[in-house]
Amino acid sequence: MCGIVGYIGHREAYPIILKGLKRLEYRGYDSAGIALYDGKDIKLSKTKGKVADLEQQLEQQITTNGNLGIGHTRWATHGVPNDINSHPHYSNSGNLVIIHNGIIENYDSLKKELIKRGYTFKSDTDTEVLINLIEDVMIKEGLKLGKAVQVALNQVIGAYAIAVFDKNKPNEIVVARLGSPIAIGVGDGEFFIASDASPFIEYTKNAIYLEDEEMAIIRKNKDLKIRKIKDDSLVDPYIQELQINLEQIEKGGYDHFMLKEIFEQPNAILDTFRGRLLTDKAIIKMVGVEDNMKKFLNANRIIVVACGTSWHAGLVSEYIFEDLARIPVEVEYASEFRYRNPVINENDVVIAISQSGETADTLAAIKLAKSKGAFVFGVCNVVGSSIARETHAGAYTHAGPEIGVASTKAFTTQITVLTLIALRLARAKGTISSSDFRHHLIELELIPEKVKKALESDNYVKTIAAIYKDVKNFLYLGRGYNFPVALEGALKLKEISYIHAEGYPAAEMKHGPIALIDENMPIVVIATKKGHYEKVVSNIQEIKSRKGKIIGIVTEGDKHVKELADHVIEVPETLECLSPLLTTIPLQLLSYHIAVMLDKNVDQPRNLAKSVTVE
Ligand code: F6R
Repeated sequence: MCGIVGYIGHREAYPIILKGLKRLEYRGYDSAGIALYDGKDIKLSKTKGKVADLEQQLEQQITTNGNLGIGHTRWATHGVPNDINSHPHYSNSGNLVIIHNGIIENYDSLKKELIKRGYTFKSDTDTEVLINLIEDVMIKEGLKLGKAVQVALNQVIGAYAIAVFDKNKPNEIVVARLGSPIAIGVGDGEFFIASDASPFIEYTKNAIYLEDEEMAIIRKNKDLKIRKIKDDSLVDPYIQELQINLEQIEKGGYDHFMLKEIFEQPNAILDTFRGRLLTDKAIIKMVGVEDNMKKFLNANRIIVVACGTSWHAGLVSEYIFEDLARIPVEVEYASEFRYRNPVINENDVVIAISQSGETADTLAAIKLAKSKGAFVFGVCNVVGSSIARETHAGAYTHAGPEIGVASTKAFTTQITVLTLIALRLARAKGTISSSDFRHHLIELELIPEKVKKALESDNYVKTIAAIYKDVKNFLYLGRGYNFPVALEGALKLKEISYIHAEGYPAAEMKHGPIALIDENMPIVVIATKKGHYEKVVSNIQEIKSRKGKIIGIVTEGDKHVKELADHVIEVPETLECLSPLLTTIPLQLLSYHIAVMLDKNVDQPRNLAKSVTVE
C-alpha cells in the first residue's frame, strides 16, 4: 500500500531510490515519483503509471544528481491515480517536499482551515494537506522541520508513514510512522529509508524499524534521533541485523515472482519446519506455543482473524484444530470482527494470520482482542512487522520475502505453521494418540517432496489453461479441508486473470450455483481420495449430467474421477488434513498460466497491492 524510499549520504541518491522503488512496486503501482536535492534546489518528477514510466520520463530531463532524495510508488486512496495526485508533494512555498503512505482521515477539516489561511492545493490528496499543515506550523510557530512535523502530526487522525525534507536544510530527512511501516537502513555515514528493507539490503544489513508514533530525524554523518511523537521523549534506536538476502528478492531466472514463489514452496515449507518438526524424537517444538501452553490448553475457543488468502489459511486451520486438538474455532474476517462488538474475553485465544504483518484490519482486530483481555498469537511471514510486534506471542512462517501480489508460498507455509500448532496442542491435550501423532509427523515431513511432485504437473496444467483461458466464469468446489482450497483457487484466478470465479463447498452446489452450469462452464473439483471422496464423486456426476467441463484435482492413480472428468491433475497421496498443501499447487499454476496467456500483469494485478495498510 504505497512504497516509500529515501536516501541521505555520500552516494548518488537517484539510482538507489529508483531501484528501491522497483523493489517496492508490489506495494502499489498506480503512479510513481522522486524528489532529489541537487545541491541548490529540489528536482521533482512524478507520473501516473509504473516506476518504468517514471524512469523513462527522468531519462529525458536528467537532473538527477544529489545525495539526498525521496521516492514513492502509489496505491491511490484519496484522489484518482494521475500525475498531479502522485507523490512527492510540495508545500505551497516549494521549500518542503513529502511522500506518504497511509490515510489522513481528518484531512478535509484540516484542508478547510488551511484554505482559510490562504493555502492553495493542486491535488486531491490528503498528503498535500499534511505537507502544508507542516509548513503552516513551521511559519506560524517559527519551528524547525522536525519539531513542526511533530506538532502537525499531533493534529492528524489516521495512518501514515512519511518522509519529508526542506530544501533550506538539505542535510536531513524527517520520517514518522503511525500504522504504516518504516525501516531505516543504517550505513556508514549514510541512511536509507524504505517501507521494508528490500530496497537497501544490498547496501547494509543493519536496520531500525520505527514503532508506531515514533519519528526520526536522519542526518548524514550524524547519529539518528528517534522521538515519540506524542510526548517528545527520546527513544534508543534498536538496530537489528537483517536475515534476508538479495537473491530472495530477485526473480532468479523465473518470468515472474509468482512463478518463482510457487516453485519455492517445497523449500519454504522445509524452512517452516526447521527446528520445529523433530520427527526422529517424535516432538514438535514451537517456543511461542510452549511458553503459552496454559493459555492454549485452557482456551474456551480459538478465534482466527485474517484477510484474503490468510483468511483461507485460517479456514483450513479450523478443520485442523477442531479435528486434531478438539478446540472450537471461529474464523473471522478481521474487517468484520473489528466493527461488530464481538463477544470475547480472557478465556479466548486469538490467532492473527498475516503474510505482511501490516494489514490494517488485522492489526485493528488484534488491538480490539487485546483490549478485551484475549491472548493474541500471531502467524506472520515478515519478521519484525507490526503484527509480529503487536501480538503477545507468535510463530513466523519463514517463507522468505513474497513479492508477487498474489499470495502463494505464504498460504502453504501458514497452513504448515497452523498444522504444527494443532498437532502440538493435540499431543498436549491427549486428543491424539502417540502413534497417530508420530504418523502425522512422518507424513508432514514428506510434504516438501510431495509438493515438488505436485509441481511436476506444471506443463499439463498449462495445456488446460490454454483450453479455458477465454471463459468468463469458473467454479471451484471442494469439501472438508479442501473447501477453503476451492475458495483460495477462485481468489487466485480472479485476482490475476480478472476472470470471475467462485469457490463453494461441493455439496452447496445444488443450493444455487448449479444453475450456472452449462457446457461452457469449467468447474474445478478437488476430489482427493481421503475425505468425502464418494460424495464429491456424486457432485461430479451432477455436473456431468449438466454438461459442465470438469477439471478434477485427484490423488495419484485415481481411476474413477478420470472416467468422469474432462481433465484430471494428480497430486500425491497424503493424510486428509495435509491435502490442502498439495491440492493448492495445481490451482496456483492454473491461475498463473491463464493470466500469463491473457497477457495480464501477474505480479502486479490491477487495483491490488501487496500489503493493505489502510482499512
Ligand atoms: C491474495 C492476497 C490477499 C492477502 C490479504 C491479507 O493473494 O494476497 O488477499 O492475503 O490482503 O494480507 P496479509 O496476509 O499480508 O495480511
